[in-house]
Amino acid sequence: MSVDKVFHIIDENVDAYVDQLKDFVRIPSISAGASEDTSGYLAQAADFLEENLQHLGFEVNKIQVTADSNPLIVARNAELRPNRPTLLIYGHYDVQGVDNPRTAWDCDPFAALEKDGHLIGRGASDNKGPTFAHIKAVESILDSGFELPLNIIFLVEGEEECGSRALGRYISAGGLEPFKPILCTAISDTSMYAPERPSLTVGLRGIVSVEVSIYGPRQDVHSGLYGGITCNPNNLLAQSLSALEDPQGRIAIPGFYDDVESLSSREKSILDSLEADENSYRGALGVPILKGEPGYSILERLWTRPTLDINYLSGGSPRTVIPAKSTAVLSCRLVPRQDPARIETTIRELIRSRVPEGIQVEFGPSHKSPPYLLDLDHPLIEPALKAIRSGFEIEPVLTREGGSIPIVTEIEAHSRAPVLLLGMGQSTDNWHGPNERFCLRDFHRGIRTSASLMYELSHV
Ligand code: BES
Ligand code: ZN
Repeated sequence: MSVDKVFHIIDENVDAYVDQLKDFVRIPSISAGASEDTSGYLAQAADFLEENLQHLGFEVNKIQVTADSNPLIVARNAELRPNRPTLLIYGHYDVQGVDNPRTAWDCDPFAALEKDGHLIGRGASDNKGPTFAHIKAVESILDSGFELPLNIIFLVEGEEECGSRALGRYISAGGLEPFKPILCTAISDTSMYAPERPSLTVGLRGIVSVEVSIYGPRQDVHSGLYGGITCNPNNLLAQSLSALEDPQGRIAIPGFYDDVESLSSREKSILDSLEADENSYRGALGVPILKGEPGYSILERLWTRPTLDINYLSGGSPRTVIPAKSTAVLSCRLVPRQDPARIETTIRELIRSRVPEGIQVEFGPSHKSPPYLLDLDHPLIEPALKAIRSGFEIEPVLTREGGSIPIVTEIEAHSRAPVLLLGMGQSTDNWHGPNERFCLRDFHRGIRTSASLMYELSHV
C-alpha cells in the first residue's frame, strides 16, 4: 500500500528532516515580546518556507498584507485538480520572545541543540516543528514516487503569537475563495494529551486580552513629600483589578458566566475517561496547591471553564515613590458562546468605574478570538483518528484544550469546513517559557500522521 512505502521513506529520511528543522529553529523569528526589530528574521523564516515549498514544486505566494505585517506564505501544489478534495494546512513561523527571563534558558534559545531526543529552541514545537512536519509529509509522498492524493494548500503566517491581524484581513478579503471547496483544515498547533497519548483536539478556548494604564503625577514623586494628596496609579490599578475576581476565585465581571453552557453528558464522559492527576499537575508546575472552581474536575477547569489572569503588572519602583504610571495586561480564556467583544467592553467599564473621575485611564491594543468547538459527530473525526493511530501506532484520544489559536474560527467560517487539530507537541514542551523543546520522536510520528491523513482524507 502506498502509505507503507511513504512511511518507509520517512523513516529513512527523518535525520535529514531533523537537520533542516534545526536550520528553521535557528532563525529568531520573534513576533511577540522582542526587545529589538526582528522583521528581518521574520522575513528570513518566510523565505525558508518559500524555498522548501518551491523545492516540492509548489506554487508559492509570499504575501505582504500591509506594509508593516509579517509575510504570509500561501502555497499550493502546482496541479490543483478539481476532482480531488482540498486540504488546507495552517501553521505559524513566528515565535514568542525569549526574555522570560533569558537567563532561565539552559542554552542559547536559537542554537537548536539536540539533547536526550529533544530539539531545544524557541519555536521548536510552537510551531515550527509541527508545521515543518506537514511539509516533510508532502516531500516524503513525492519522494516515494507518488502523486499527492489530494490538493494541498499551505497557509503559514508570521503573526499568530500577536493575534493574526494580517491573516485575518487576508481571509476576510476572500483569500481562501480561490481554493474552495475546501474539505477541511489541519492544524498542528495544539498538544498531545500526554507523552505517549496523541490526541485529536475538538475544542479550544477563545481569548480576550486587555492592556490598561492608569496615570498619576507627571513623574514618579517622593511619597513622603506628596503621599496623602496624590492618587497612586498602582493603588488604583490594584483596586480595580481586584474587583474582577471575588475571594472565592469566581470572576466578578457582570454577566461573565451568562452564556457559558454546561457540558453534554457525552463530553463529560469523554473528559472523565481521561486521567488527570492533581499531584502530577502540581509537580509539573512546581506549586503547592491548585486553584479553580469547586465542583469541576481538573480537565473541565483547564478546557471548558473560562478564566481571568493578570499576565503583566508594572508601575513605580521599589523605592518610596508614587509612580507616574501603572500598567497591567490581563486576559480571559473564553468558552463556547461567550462573546469576546462584549466581555472586553464590560472589563473596560468595570475598571474605569473603579477609578476616580478625572484620572487618566488608557486602554492599549487587545486580542480577541472566539472559542472553537468541533461537532463530535463530524464525519472527518474518524479519518483523523485513523491517521493519528497509524502515524503514532498508539490509540489516540479526543480532547479539548485551554489555549487559543486566534484564526481558527475565521478559517472555519470562510472555508465552510471543519478544522482538525492534530497536536504533535506536548504540554511539557515549555511553550512560551524557557527551554522550549520538541520531542524528535513526535516529529517523526507527526510526519507519518500527516502523510497518513492526506491518504485518509483523499477517499472520504
Ligand atoms: N500553540 C498555541 C495555542 C495553544 C496553546 C493550543 C495551548 C493548545 C494549548 C499558540 O501558539 C498560542 O500560543 N496562542 C496564543 C494566542 C494569543 C497570543 C492570542 C495563546 O493561546 O495564548
Ligand atoms: Zn504560542
